[in-house]
Amino acid sequence: MTVLDNNIHWHNTLVSHVERESRNCHKSVILWFTGFSGSGKSTIAHAVERRLFELNCATFVLDGDNVRHGLCVDLEFSQQDRIENIRRIGEMAKLFTEAGMIALTAFISPYATDRDRVRALVEPDRFVEIYCCCSVEMCEKRDVKGLYAKARKGLIKDFTGISSGYEAPMNPELSINTEGQNLDECVDQVMAYLKLKNVIS
Ligand SMILES: Nc1ncnc2c1ncn2[C@@H]1O[C@H](COP(=O)(O)OP(=O)(O)OP(=O)(O)O)[C@@H](O)[C@H]1O
Ligand SMILES: [Mg+2]
Repeated sequence: MTVLDNNIHWHNTLVSHVERESRNCHKSVILWFTGFSGSGKSTIAHAVERRLFELNCATFVLDGDNVRHGLCVDLEFSQQDRIENIRRIGEMAKLFTEAGMIALTAFISPYATDRDRVRALVEPDRFVEIYCCCSVEMCEKRDVKGLYAKARKGLIKDFTGISSGYEAPMNPELSINTEGQNLDECVDQVMAYLKLKNVIS
């Protein structure tokens, strides 16, 4: 059934997207961090948000585990549920940009088609794919949450990098080497990109 069959109609807003951006003094974009578990998505996203917040930007981080506590509590890690998880996050991130904010998302988001589907939801320059590039060996060594150890023991099924695939972005707006750079250097790289593209001034 389509939305029209269902008698659902769009109601236009009285405050435009451009007006919201103009009040915030920055562009609204989605900063989509992708990479293996432990590659640094959350660490970098939150550190970038802190820097942006200090610059008076309107920001919010949507983080994998947090979202799975609420909006996506009904989803697991099968391929079908991961697709639905990313679809919901994408729609939510889009709403944040419509509210004039910079939405930072930290999800493994292993499948290219799912990320591309989110990309297609917004204007081309509003989706910034940021690949946190780190070998699975290093991520496993870090094992921040002890998940790799559990996955190796077979206690977690469909674990990305161990028993489930990861499709690295072919053409991300930014690729950050989190293995060869420290956190500050990674954050600087994101901030420099945002300035270069006039997202912030
Ligand atoms: N350059 C770096 N950038 C980010 N994190 C780094 C860097 N160097 C080391 N680390 C460490 O790597 C770990 C990254 O963990 P983090 O929770 O951010 O990963 P994640 O990608 O969000 O994983 P998950 O998908 O499980 O949530 C942290 O312990 C962090 O301190
Ligand atoms: Mg994380």
